Amino acid sequence: MTDFPPAGAMAPHTAISRRRWLAGAGATLTALTLPPLARARDAPAADLTAGGFRLLHARPGETRLRGANERPTPIWGYDGLSPGPTLRVKQGDELKIRLVNDLRQPTVIHWHGIRLPNAMDGVPHLTQMPVEPGASFDYRFTPPDAGTFWYHSHFLSSEQMARGLLGALVVEEREPVAVDRDVVLVVNDWRLTNDGAIHPSFGNFHDAAMAGRLGQYITLNGQDSLDLPVKTNERLRLRLINAANSRIFQFRIADHGARVMAVDGQPCPPEVVPNGVLRLAPGTRFDLFLDATLKPGSRAPILVDDLRGGELEIGHVVYDAAPLRPQPLPAPAALPANPLPDTFDMAGALTLDVPLDGGGMAMMMGRGGMMGGMGGGMGGGMGGNMGGAGFRGHGLPPQERIWALAGIASSGHDGPPMFKVARGRTVILNFANRSAFPHAMHVHGHHFRQFEAGTKNFRPYWLDTVIVDPERSERVAFVADNPGKWMLHCHMIEHMAAGMAAWFEVT
Ligand code: C2O
Ligand code: CU
Repeated sequence: MTDFPPAGAMAPHTAISRRRWLAGAGATLTALTLPPLARARDAPAADLTAGGFRLLHARPGETRLRGANERPTPIWGYDGLSPGPTLRVKQGDELKIRLVNDLRQPTVIHWHGIRLPNAMDGVPHLTQMPVEPGASFDYRFTPPDAGTFWYHSHFLSSEQMARGLLGALVVEEREPVAVDRDVVLVVNDWRLTNDGAIHPSFGNFHDAAMAGRLGQYITLNGQDSLDLPVKTNERLRLRLINAANSRIFQFRIADHGARVMAVDGQPCPPEVVPNGVLRLAPGTRFDLFLDATLKPGSRAPILVDDLRGGELEIGHVVYDAAPLRPQPLPAPAALPANPLPDTFDMAGALTLDVPLDGGGMAMMMGRGGMMGGMGGGMGGGMGGNMGGAGFRGHGLPPQERIWALAGIASSGHDGPPMFKVARGRTVILNFANRSAFPHAMHVHGHHFRQFEAGTKNFRPYWLDTVIVDPERSERVAFVADNPGKWMLHCHMIEHMAAGMAAWFEVT
């Protein structure tokens, strides 16, 4: 698996800057007052209803994103937190969550990466109606796969996710995996005002046309700088989740290799990435085993790129004065396999070319301008279904859509499906990025395989989200084994809201 990350991303990073405002304003040191915890916030049992549903309130809250000494940021979060409580369920057990909407907007929850029944997928107007303020909705499903997943709003997502409506969903293996500790790490990117409020520039045209909403403040588990305490020769399972609206992170832990055990929730053959740099698209997860190999008392920064060739410290691995055991553990076995479909029929596959078009700078690239290549979609497919509040589920009205998938600029639920496919058939999608920006293509309800470039061979992992770099193509295949109406979209949320979304039906 030499592609973690692709070659272009492997350049060594040298300029380690202190993190803080990326814009560079007033760097302050808060090291003395950092909260020591790195613990995932698990659901307190007290929130269960008589029917066994865990209540999850979408509501305003506040959190000290910028550190203990700064004013807290008003956010929207699940139970008022961002990330929301880490939900845990055992593989094969039912998860029962009652979403209670305490916001003044409708909302829904999407369970990213879970191969669940369509009615539970949380896509407004496609699988359910939006949950109105004051109303609630019961989600119940039995996740088939053990792994690292997450949940987030899928209604006006460019606002609701930017305000913090997201959290981790951990599906535990039936038999416990042999690690010393299991730690969720949610990486997020916030655009704040100078006062530390969420910047209200949601889904604006510039972001939509360019790289999406990029913030200037990066958090790990909602914290300004996270201390991850370890002991020498301890083995941690890190569940890394990129919950940012649009930002791709290059993530690493200094002085440690990254042993990748699973990607997008699905186990893969364990693979050590020697320089430890992982490239995470929005929506992507990596399960890593971190073997704490440094000496007692060591400290190693946790780093992401700063988009300008340097790196930012977003936390530290902090070693205890005493080792846990005298020797490191031997190399681990792979995680147990999930029940994924292994019935690809390439000869009988439905094969679709899916060009990714639009956005800013398209004109300079000779792509006929922002709207040029999209006349078909705008004029044809979008006509019928656009009345009323329909488009509000995902974003912009049709005339403001500046991206297209296979020539159609949809909200992901209006217009006709991109394709219909009989249950069990193999689908091959050839994503061809003809724009100036990378895209993170995400398929709901299914995991897919990615082909090695130019071959008929699969890469040794499963994905639910794949990065397609500018002027590049990525071919993926999945077995359409989950009946219903599913979204297919860019997980740069501002691109999705501006037309880079579609749906398909498995009948
Ligand atoms: Cu996290 Cu429609 O996606
Ligand atoms: Cu995109």
